[in-house]
Amino acid sequence: MLESSSVPLFIVFVLLFILLLSVVLIRRNGTAALIWNEIIREKITNFIMNQSKEQRILNFVLQNAVRGDPCSVMDAIDKYCSQKEWAMNVGNEKGLILDKTVEEINPSVALELGTYCGYSAVRIARLLKAGARLLTVEFNPEFAAIAKQMIEFAGVQDKVKLIEGPSEEIIPQLKKKYEVDTLDFVFLDHWKDRYTPDTILLQVSLHNLVTAPRPVTHCSANPR
Ligand SMILES: C[S@@+](CC[C@H](N)C(=O)[O-])C[C@H]1O[C@@H](n2cnc3c(N)ncnc32)[C@H](O)[C@@H]1O
Ligand SMILES: *[C@@H]1O[C@H](CO)[C@@H](O)[C@H](O)[C@H]1NC(C)=O
Repeated sequence: MLESSSVPLFIVFVLLFILLLSVVLIRRNGTAALIWNEIIREKITNFIMNQSKEQRILNFVLQNAVRGDPCSVMDAIDKYCSQKEWAMNVGNEKGLILDKTVEEINPSVALELGTYCGYSAVRIARLLKAGARLLTVEFNPEFAAIAKQMIEFAGVQDKVKLIEGPSEEIIPQLKKKYEVDTLDFVFLDHWKDRYTPDTILLQVSLHNLVTAPRPVTHCSANPR
């Protein structure tokens, strides 16, 4: 049995040991470094700044991009996320593939599942012809609030309809509530376990979705 007075000392010792172990792990192990950078450091920063990473991304855009210029918004997000904090935007490399596909298809009605901060929504919307629209679905209310401001700042709000809710609930409402007849383009970029069920749900909900969505997806598990 430990004496009551030695218990706090024991706890301090254990905490110090954990700290030491973490430092060694972070310096030697890539995964530990990744966990430190992307999870623990972010949580500490959020706590100290009383602000989420997504709010920091938006602030960086508001301060460094040009209002009404979608490309400057994309550039600012890419810059912040490559230099300061990684985030799950599609990014410029895969963004170029996305651009090419959107330009090729030149959709009248496009759908995106997974808005996050609105990076890819701005990216897609800037390429849409006059009168075309993008519907983008996000179930996290905090992300949706950030994306709304991002889309407005980029000046593409007239082309983008941001829908807050889970894809599995929104897709069956597309036809009646959102007056979608046909989708020309679908960008699946939400959680991977929903890719297949939502594709099937799309085909069931919109009978005249003749062509199967061409997958333009990215793997958020492999940053950069
Ligand atoms: C990889 S991020 C999207 C990145 C964004 N397309 C971009 O490139 O800027 C995935 C997003 O999908 C959202 N999400 C995941 N599952 C969803 C679902 N079933 N319905 C709606 N949103 C979902 C998450 O909250 C997250 O913001
Ligand atoms: C943290 O931010 C929230 C919302 O932005 C605010 O309501 C709250 O008062 C802030 N807390 C502190 C300690 O500044």
